[in-house]
Amino acid sequence: MQNAQIERKTFITLAVIAIVLIIASSIIFSALKKAQGDAQIINALGRQRMLTQAMAKSALGYGMAKSEKENAKQQVLRLDSFITSMRAVFTDKVVRPAVASGVKLSISPDPGSLPFPATFTRFVNERFDKLSDAHVDIVAQTPINPRKTFKYPSDSAALAYLQAQPEGVYMSTFVRDGRLYQRFYTADRATLDACVSCHVKYQGPGIKPGDILGVRRFDIPFAREIALGQEILNANLDEYRQDEKIFSMTLQAVKSGGQYPLDLKLRKMGFLEKITDRQAQEKINEIEQQFAAFTRAVEQLSPGEVGSSGQRQAMKSVVSESNQLRKLSNDLVSIYTGIA
Ligand code: HEC
Repeated sequence: MQNAQIERKTFITLAVIAIVLIIASSIIFSALKKAQGDAQIINALGRQRMLTQAMAKSALGYGMAKSEKENAKQQVLRLDSFITSMRAVFTDKVVRPAVASGVKLSISPDPGSLPFPATFTRFVNERFDKLSDAHVDIVAQTPINPRKTFKYPSDSAALAYLQAQPEGVYMSTFVRDGRLYQRFYTADRATLDACVSCHVKYQGPGIKPGDILGVRRFDIPFAREIALGQEILNANLDEYRQDEKIFSMTLQAVKSGGQYPLDLKLRKMGFLEKITDRQAQEKINEIEQQFAAFTRAVEQLSPGEVGSSGQRQAMKSVVSESNQLRKLSNDLVSIYTGIA
């Protein structure tokens, strides 16, 4: 009888100990699990802060590369207007009065004759080539001067492009003597009736006002470091877009709970619980709005004339909007570490 009582007591004691152990360990496990979840969220939020700076850095790198690339294009457009003006003035002030008084025009430097406006332009271009490391040439698919036919595959590609966009500038690149060049083309169009009437004499009928009589080709040296130069010319927003995606997915995950990228290459996904704290949720909304303002600033880097105040303004906004985004992202880390 006494033995049975001792057995019962022992059993109860053991059972109580077992229950206490089960409860204690489940408390410890759930605390550990929460700590793990908190650490994961803190890591993700810390990464958000870093991403604001990484996004700004790649967007600015793109903006700078784009400015450099477009600078040469602006130079070409100025040179192009200069050629047009020079040829027009030569035609108007020299050729017209000379022809009226019986002077002949010639394609070669004949004594007693004057060069055609295009011939004069060609002489100036040839002289310019000797003085400068840039080259200018005016060529055509079926030229009057047989030496001025198309030479490079880009010549025909440029013509096709300019036929669709006569006011545009076509750009390609090439490497010569260990140097990377930008090659630009503009259209040389029959803007005057005189272009048509004279060219018809040489090339036969079928030329109309507005037709492209040839293309102007401008070779402008860009870089001695070819790989670096190529990188600048091919700059894009890919790196930025990747970080942007990680940032917005992570923000969405802490807002509503869900999947987010674990690594910066978006190969592995993880899961985050929603942050339920009201103050944190308010901050997340603020970050969302600021993120939209920042992405708008980045999109402004793309269109518009580079070097213009618009482009500079866009670069400035990217910096200030990203700093503000960083500040808000930092606030969220502080709020979360306070409640975690
Ligand atoms: C008085 C005749 C005459 C007029 C006017 C004239 N051209 Fe020409 N053009 C020529 C001759 C001749 C050449 C060849 C010049 C050379 O290479 O020495 C030429 C060459 C050119 C070329 C280079 C390719 C080629 O055919 O050799 C282009 C492009 C061209 N002209 C466009 C124009 C345009 C645009 C106008 C009007 C703004 C114009 N030309 C007005 C006679 C003329």
